[in-house]
Amino acid sequence: MIIINSASIMEELDRKGAIYSDRPRLEMGGELVGYSETLVLIPYGPRFRAYRKHLSRFMGTPVAMERHIPLVEHETRRFLKRNLINPENLSNNLRKLAGGIIMQLTYGIEVQEGEDPYVSLIEGANDNFSAATVPGAFMVDFFPSLLLLPEWLPGMSFKETARKWAKATADMIEIPFAFTKKQMVAGTARPSFVSENLENEKTMAAEDIADVKLAASSMYGGGADTTVSAEYAFFLAMVLNPEVQKKAQAEIDAVIGNERLPSLADRSQLPYIMALVTEVLRWNSVAPTGVPHTAMEDGIISGYLIPKGSIIITNLWNMLHDPEVYPDPFTFDPDRHIATEGKPAQRDPRNVCFGYGRRVCPGMHLAEASLFSVISQSLAVFDITKTIENGVPITPPHENTSGIISFPEPYKCTIKPRSQRAISLITEDH
Ligand code: HEM
Repeated sequence: MIIINSASIMEELDRKGAIYSDRPRLEMGGELVGYSETLVLIPYGPRFRAYRKHLSRFMGTPVAMERHIPLVEHETRRFLKRNLINPENLSNNLRKLAGGIIMQLTYGIEVQEGEDPYVSLIEGANDNFSAATVPGAFMVDFFPSLLLLPEWLPGMSFKETARKWAKATADMIEIPFAFTKKQMVAGTARPSFVSENLENEKTMAAEDIADVKLAASSMYGGGADTTVSAEYAFFLAMVLNPEVQKKAQAEIDAVIGNERLPSLADRSQLPYIMALVTEVLRWNSVAPTGVPHTAMEDGIISGYLIPKGSIIITNLWNMLHDPEVYPDPFTFDPDRHIATEGKPAQRDPRNVCFGYGRRVCPGMHLAEASLFSVISQSLAVFDITKTIENGVPITPPHENTSGIISFPEPYKCTIKPRSQRAISLITEDH
């Protein structure tokens, strides 16, 4: 196992990505529970490339993302409404927002207010996957030969758990996909990743249809929690850094005014907000240790032999908090990403936080668009401050949960509309 702590070594792995883009084999979460066929775990090879090609065409470049922007902005406005009514439910409101965007994009499914059956189904399966991949939780990951032992022996209950979870995985893959197909037959399908890729279904081979289905099933797992973590961290950063919030609001007020909400088309006019988005991605490590890769061949990186089969873990958290690259790394400071005369911008954290090589996050442009949208619109209409309890403002700590995807620990904050005009902007129909 090789742990990479430096961004320049990760860049070398990125350049030589063709041989460092496999994933480790996971017996429980992958083979038994069924995630080994979804993009995040599928081995490097022709099927991997087919999934990636579909996703890349759909949303893999800023240009491909353009046509999805109205959806992102529409869902963000729905978020503002929910958050106006129920600001203490921030984290759930963000979850609805991220889930709403992904379900529409992937399947053309508009999620329901309250509990949505498709989202519950997918989140249930993804929770199993998280539980299945906790390091050390299942001995079969270290001793695959346990699979050969009969189920009645002590310690074999993992087999029953695996069967139950595999069923949940299959439902997650099949049920929303079947919904879209049914809608296509009825002629009522909204445009989505699945409907577009199945337009020529009649002439497609069964394996090609399965590739579309499995690529689709990877989007929610890859995109929901990650985006929620970054957005939840943004609100925390605003609670802890009121002067940054004021500066960002001043930029929006000056450039956009209060007759409308900011939109993604305003990005180039809002450099401080853009820098704030970038700083959120640096300050809060969504995936502190990335997702492990494995070496497919012997190779040399920075003068060291990396033997075939090595597991490569990238310590993204360390790279994003390296004081040599980001002086005073725990301070939330968007200005570090803005070049001024005689002072270049600090290294772009987006080259680190989304991983590397052929496995680089396929949803990064969607993530950035979603973040910009929620950050700019929220700052335009809300003030985000510390909660006051018994006359004392509560300062939340910046602590994170452990796991492949890390969230800020739940915290208290107060979110209020900035003005009467802000309330009208939120509530009027767009
Ligand atoms: C702030 C938001 C996000 C962050 C920080 C993030 C970060 C990452 C990272 C670090 C990886 C692992 C890359 C590697 O193995 O080197 C990854 C993979 C992945 N991400 Fe994201 N991601 C985000 C949002 C999204 C979104 C919105 C989607 C899709 C809708 C998405 C879908 C995926 C998928 C499917 C993979 C697996 C790719 C593969 O194995 O080939 N992510 N992401």
